[in-house]
Amino acid sequence: MTHKILLISGDGIGPEIVGAATGVLHALRERFGLQFDSEEALMGGCAYEATGEPLPEATLKAGRAADAILLGAVGGPQWDQIERAKRPERGLLALRSGLELFCNLRPASLFNALADASALKPEVVGGLDIMIVRELTGDIYFGQPRGIETLADGSRVGRNTMIYSEAEIRRIAHAAFRTAGQRQGRLCSVDKANVLETTELWREVVTEVAKEYPAVSLSHMYVDNAAMQLVRAPKQFDVIVTGNIFGDILSDLASMLTGSIGMLPSASLDANGKGMYEPIHGSAPDIAGRNIANPLATILSVAMMLRYSLNEPTQAVRVEQAVARVLEQGYRTADIQSPGTHVVGTVEMGQQVVAALQA
Ligand code: IPM
Ligand code: MG
Repeated sequence: MTHKILLISGDGIGPEIVGAATGVLHALRERFGLQFDSEEALMGGCAYEATGEPLPEATLKAGRAADAILLGAVGGPQWDQIERAKRPERGLLALRSGLELFCNLRPASLFNALADASALKPEVVGGLDIMIVRELTGDIYFGQPRGIETLADGSRVGRNTMIYSEAEIRRIAHAAFRTAGQRQGRLCSVDKANVLETTELWREVVTEVAKEYPAVSLSHMYVDNAAMQLVRAPKQFDVIVTGNIFGDILSDLASMLTGSIGMLPSASLDANGKGMYEPIHGSAPDIAGRNIANPLATILSVAMMLRYSLNEPTQAVRVEQAVARVLEQGYRTADIQSPGTHVVGTVEMGQQVVAALQA
């Protein structure tokens, strides 16, 4: 069966990291018979420049038709001042929402070879393997009303709405319980139920859903405490489930436990397992075009794509093992370098992964 993959490079370092990851896909085709067709589409600032829209209709259509999407990153300072609805990030949010990719899986696992790259002590992070399940199409990201408004006295107010329906909470809770059931069976639901009614409901619904998963043990934690615990003793967590905004923040935090935000892949899935795969980091305009960005998060996103959307678990393991091997051999991009390692650029890192695949 030939998989249909849509490639969306986006802005900033996007084309470089997607280029490296595409090299890995091609190597899987040549060496291990992976069958796929790929097509490219525009999204983000580059799409705005070309079409006037951050998410052109053609991209949404191509996204609907694809089995999976590989995305680099979007955004850049040149678009920070344009009308909000046209900004690159809105393109990404519209694509997530338009394809109903409500379930965002963000694994934070540490490659042994990177134990010294973490800001935390090796004994705190050694063997770390956490899965953050972030709800991706609701919450304050999409809630209405929103906007900046000028009052009668001429002063301005900004407003966003944190809102979750029971149904939205229930479907992400089911996804999280299933994920925990396939791992160590421990799920921690993160909320701010002591202050926010939205998340009081979140806690109630997650607790109800728990009854259907007796093999999974459920705990609850406030988001401020969760941030603290992730730094203090991250290995206490197996799976974390949380809303869109808390998940955005906690996943950046968790990424640094693994050495660099440049290492973390993600999957954004709909109810049928179709997904979009992207590194959790941004478009890093400051280092764009300099061949220094770390492509490993994007390459590991390819592995997640093979596992979660394309049903190619063997190919996924190949990619993950190749990345581990390259790190063991001492190759590093600048963001994860440490004394005694061999620093390489984006292109070379991609080539090393390809070489390790073929070894
Ligand atoms: C992420 C990013 C996005 C988000 C931005 C670019 C809109 O930070 O994927 O975590 O906030 O979801
Ligand atoms: Mg983020």
